[in-house]
Amino acid sequence: MNRPFLRMVGIKKWFPGVQALKGVDFEADQGEVLALIGANGAGKTTLMNVLGGVIQADEGEIYIQGEYADIRTPLDAAEHGIAFVHQEMALMPTLTVAENMYITRFPSRLGLINYKATKERCTQALARLGIGLDPGTKLQHLSPGDRQMVEIARALLSEPQIIILDEPTSSLTSREKARLFEVIGSLKQEGVAIIYITHLLDEVFQVCERAIVLRDGEVAGGGILKDLTYDDVVRLMIGSKEISPHFGRRTAHIGDAVLYVEGLSRRGVLQNVSFTLHKGEILGLWGLLGSGRTELARAIIGLDPIDTGRIQVRTDGSMKAIHPQEAKNWIGMITEKRREEGLLLPKSVKINVSLANLPALISRIWPLIDDKRETELAEKFVNRLEIVISSLTQPVATLSGGNQQKVVLARWLQRNPPIYIMDEPTCGLDVGVKAEIRKIIGELADAGAAILLISSDIDEMIGLSDRFLVMNRGRIVAELSAGSPKDKLMAAAAGVV
Ligand SMILES: Nc1ncnc2c1ncn2[C@@H]1O[C@H](COP(=O)(O)OP(=O)(O)OP(=O)(O)O)[C@@H](O)[C@H]1O
Ligand SMILES: [Mg+2]
Repeated sequence: MNRPFLRMVGIKKWFPGVQALKGVDFEADQGEVLALIGANGAGKTTLMNVLGGVIQADEGEIYIQGEYADIRTPLDAAEHGIAFVHQEMALMPTLTVAENMYITRFPSRLGLINYKATKERCTQALARLGIGLDPGTKLQHLSPGDRQMVEIARALLSEPQIIILDEPTSSLTSREKARLFEVIGSLKQEGVAIIYITHLLDEVFQVCERAIVLRDGEVAGGGILKDLTYDDVVRLMIGSKEISPHFGRRTAHIGDAVLYVEGLSRRGVLQNVSFTLHKGEILGLWGLLGSGRTELARAIIGLDPIDTGRIQVRTDGSMKAIHPQEAKNWIGMITEKRREEGLLLPKSVKINVSLANLPALISRIWPLIDDKRETELAEKFVNRLEIVISSLTQPVATLSGGNQQKVVLARWLQRNPPIYIMDEPTCGLDVGVKAEIRKIIGELADAGAAILLISSDIDEMIGLSDRFLVMNRGRIVAELSAGSPKDKLMAAAAGVV
């Protein structure tokens, strides 16, 4: 057999205003789990898009088992045994699980789609991942975790020889994650080459054997993970740049209550949820995936309907009940689901950054957007959050995943609302940026903002929160103070209190 199994040589790719890949050499072998890591915008997704036939490199070649592979389309890639689980989910919400899984290759008999075979194969593929979903369910009715599993199951259907997983665990519960890691283990045994992209370095050390680190479109280094420390890897990722310290606890100055939530209920989702949030406070909303945290956030902001309950804000010293439609005047919502709720993807960075702030940008004299101010503001926040862009007019769709997340944050920061709800604000960000965003969250609270924080990263929650509410099955089951130990939070979330 020719080794290495996969070889990419001298891959270069230019986009308008940026060279995303500057001559990358990359090798992967059968039966290895290889981590592809690097800061936001380093070129990870671009390199894998080249391998997956999503885009074509401007220069460079791909060899599989020593033979030149001419990969120009995703279909070419599939014919070479390459399957790709994308960073941004690529499924159709209105189609069923089976339809999504077989969108490009329905099993047919005499040219007719064989629905029975389709269903059976889907059920088997899902069972392999330990999920018992009905293949006839429409995707829009599934949890984000299940959708992610469907996407992974779909990639496995083609029995690939190389599988690319681009941040596959971001919406998985810990049980689903454990199951995925088992599946990765058995794929490895079967001799599949697995390329694993993630910003969660713990996962890298847990599931991968070797790492390749990209920095600014070049290979910065890598090696066998047994021989590397966490700090070695971070150093390779960020070069000589300094990372601000993790999260030194702030001395919080907690003021008056600004948000009152009373008796919020929605059948089957939320049960009589009440709490208050104070000026200057970071209130951590903790719970397992599916406990109702995101649903609570969405109900407060008016994205989902409620059956009963009242939401009030304090403005200018008096209380005011708010209608869901007006919530956005007081509450900034930062979510990980930037594609669905956050951004206008085809539009420019500039427009997206100023989107939440249009009234303030309308020129006094002419009912037009003040372009100069819009540009200045956008520049300010692009610099502050170090958003990697080639110009302010670059469409947001073409930014790297992490940089899109920063645009969502920039948009709200410049509007400066008194209350924020942040749902997984650092999801998909590299270690350096995560630290930076955590610092900004602390500074916002110090400046008097009231923040409801949701995060699956327990260290992030403990590091930032001044108080915790713990949810389980749609209700608040515990309230814990700052500095509560991890195991206490975990136990409360599991309902063992
Ligand atoms: N279609 C495109 N048009 C213009 N620029 C692009 C396009 N796709 C990617 N880029 C640019 O290429 C660079 C590399 O992006 P890429 O998405 O590969 O980063 P990444 O390493 O996957 O980052 P992340 O961890 O944030 O997902 C970025 O500067 C990005 O803005
Ligand atoms: Mg990416």
